[in-house]
Amino acid sequence: MKQEILKTEGDVNLSEERVIWQEKNCKNKETQRLLEADSKVFLHQAMSSPCLDVLGACSDATIENIHGKKYLDFHGNNVHQVGFSNPYITAQIKKQLEDLSFSTRRFTNKTAINFAEKLVGLLPNDLNRVLFAPGGTSVVSMALKLARVVTGKHKVISYWDSFHGASLDAISAGGEAVFRQHMGPMMPGVIRIPPPMQKGGFFEDEMKSADYLEYVIEKEGEIGAFIAETVRNTDVQIPSKKYWQRIREICTKHGVLLILDEIPIALGRTGKLFAFENFDIEPDIICLGKGLGGGIIPFAAMVCKEEYNVAQDISLGHFTHEKSPLGCAAAHAVIDFIESENLLQKVNEDAKWMKETLDNLRKRHVLIGDIRGVGLLWGIELTNPITQKPATAEAEKIMYNCLELGLSFKVSQGNVLQLSPALTISRNELQQAIEIVEKAFLMLGNE
Ligand SMILES: Cc1ncc(COP(=O)(O)O)c(C=O)c1O
Repeated sequence: MKQEILKTEGDVNLSEERVIWQEKNCKNKETQRLLEADSKVFLHQAMSSPCLDVLGACSDATIENIHGKKYLDFHGNNVHQVGFSNPYITAQIKKQLEDLSFSTRRFTNKTAINFAEKLVGLLPNDLNRVLFAPGGTSVVSMALKLARVVTGKHKVISYWDSFHGASLDAISAGGEAVFRQHMGPMMPGVIRIPPPMQKGGFFEDEMKSADYLEYVIEKEGEIGAFIAETVRNTDVQIPSKKYWQRIREICTKHGVLLILDEIPIALGRTGKLFAFENFDIEPDIICLGKGLGGGIIPFAAMVCKEEYNVAQDISLGHFTHEKSPLGCAAAHAVIDFIESENLLQKVNEDAKWMKETLDNLRKRHVLIGDIRGVGLLWGIELTNPITQKPATAEAEKIMYNCLELGLSFKVSQGNVLQLSPALTISRNELQQAIEIVEKAFLMLGNE
């Protein structure tokens, strides 16, 4: 099959820039041997094998290759809210490992009950029924199934360009066409609407996107759920409070369940424990994952309203690692750590610094078309100042320049540098990272 290089959710691993970077930066024999071994044994797929470098260690805001080169990790697959190898989290996991390492179906365990109670205690009053799963995609799958059971309607609305996981049902519901390519028939009944963007979107006004949602609900009928990320993680799209409140109103009016996918952005990333708290709205179902396992254990959760406890005779998520004691110990430790370290306050202070620093960076580089962010989730959108087109080639070059200088991040939609460090990152490291970004911009002029 012809390999097409497509700009997707992340950077592609087949580009010329990748080859050039590796020739320059991965000369070491051991690294080359391992990269070849990886490429030989793993099934190749987009954004994975063949890989870029070989890791030997990770700690707090940093990952390190097998030869001691450190990268500040501003990507971290969004599992690193509390930093990599957080000693408190690892200690709690080790403790749990010694007590109860697995919970067989049909039995429950104290760690799972305690964490479920803790989690619902942090959410609004009526969000108090929980199901755990080993990953975010599985949680999205459960939420879609639950919405069908509760409403008796199978149709679902999502945004174009959204990502909700990589399984067949999740790519059916998601909006990134590239994930559906060559995949044949999808789950029926998905309707996609243009996402609300405050700048450069399909509608010149984000409220028009809300009106369009209501229009589709009324015209199409039989809509059971609307699934969306509260803040889009990939290219950092942050709707207004007014927008989200209108969406909440529309969903309530039409009996459509509002499923908020906060898998990458909950747990402090936006400066609040849950992103929806920024908008004074409440979802009907919330999906959590990624950093919930402390960056160590694959662990995710769906929380929904008490009144949706109506699927006793159906397996919504028949997962082997459901009430995982290790996952629950990790997740409980994550929440304890966020609370005891006052992490949300730190993130909000960092957010002010990031805004000011990136706004200044923008003044020095005409290629920067937009800066947007919340908490420790920031996007630098690159636009050609003459053509006003996305500066995709430059974005890729800047990313590889940054990697050379010791900073890793993701490029989204081809031209958005997405910056999401560990929330525990020091101000010094943040400063260092922005200096690297600036150097990478300056290197462009010399290429
Ligand atoms: C918004 C969103 N939803 C769902 C998922 C799927 O999570 P997982 O990779 O744990 O299955 C992701 C993963 O990147 C995501 O970003």
